Amino acid sequence: MLDKINALKAEIAAATAESAAQAEALRIKYLSKKGEVSLLFADFRNVPADQKRAIGQALNELKTFATDKINALRAAADEAPDVDAGLDLTRTAAPWRLGTRHPLSLVREEIIDIFRRLGFTVAEGPEVEDDWHVFSSLNFAADHPARDMQDTFFIKRQPDVLLRTHTSSVQSRVMECSKPPIRIICPGRVYRNEAISARAHCFFHQVEALYVDKGVTFADLRQTLLYFAQEMFGPETKIRLRPSYFPFTEPSAEMDISCNICGGKGCGFCKHTGWVEILGCGMVDPNVLEACGIDSKEYTGFALGMGIERITNLKYRVSDLRLFSENDVRFLEEFASAR
Ligand code: DAH
Repeated sequence: MLDKINALKAEIAAATAESAAQAEALRIKYLSKKGEVSLLFADFRNVPADQKRAIGQALNELKTFATDKINALRAAADEAPDVDAGLDLTRTAAPWRLGTRHPLSLVREEIIDIFRRLGFTVAEGPEVEDDWHVFSSLNFAADHPARDMQDTFFIKRQPDVLLRTHTSSVQSRVMECSKPPIRIICPGRVYRNEAISARAHCFFHQVEALYVDKGVTFADLRQTLLYFAQEMFGPETKIRLRPSYFPFTEPSAEMDISCNICGGKGCGFCKHTGWVEILGCGMVDPNVLEACGIDSKEYTGFALGMGIERITNLKYRVSDLRLFSENDVRFLEEFASAR
């Protein structure tokens, strides 16, 4: 019996466990009701009376030794990572969830890129503006409806501080402080007092372009527009200019492109006309040049302005304006592969 006790003690002393589960298996093997140590206790009955004292002591020591050893193994395993619980340090790491560029940023960068190739540089101006830069310098009549509270957000009811309603305000800021030749493109956010719906929003984005130099003509404007339309929508794109009115350009026009869905044949998107409107443009009104300190006898210029949401709708078929500002990742992730 003593030999058995010593052999078991040596076995337990050599036991190892790499996890709490393995330590528990050792406990069951040695200390549970039918465990090997317990079985020795059961055999104790058969020990001759004169040996009972020594063997009893040895048995008790074995039990304490086994209990301490297994507890120590369990404690060590609890501290170490539990391999059995599924932690696999050799597995590759979870992939990073990459962000995507916002569709409006993609289109804005593409527009800037096209104009950059024609020598235009980016200019920016403030979103909180004054009446002069948004309206007066741009030849808006004193009673123009855009100046009304209905259409424009005024700050703290001060009639002279407002959120710009268009990026044309950057035109006058740049003309005021630089000499022609001026060739700028001005992307930015604009604000209008509109109820939010699929087709209107209280803020949206525009890109303005301005070219002022000696001898700039409507032909230059038209060629620039054609280049832009074909770079943006493909070489088969046609443009057409319709007479229009803006206070800051004379003559003024609106530009349509041949519908890029049906190729100009007529479909639901272009209301069966074959054309879709994309921007406003014209020759800078001499009054605007003079208001900004540029001699209108020496210089002429053209300007154009477009909504980035509108271009994005044509390019990516996003017709509900609200999607652009809701930040739903399911929508944003659709642009993951866009350049
Ligand atoms: N500012 C105009 C708007 O917000 C767009 C525009 C039209 C800009 C004609 C221009 C232009 O520079 O020449 O609707």
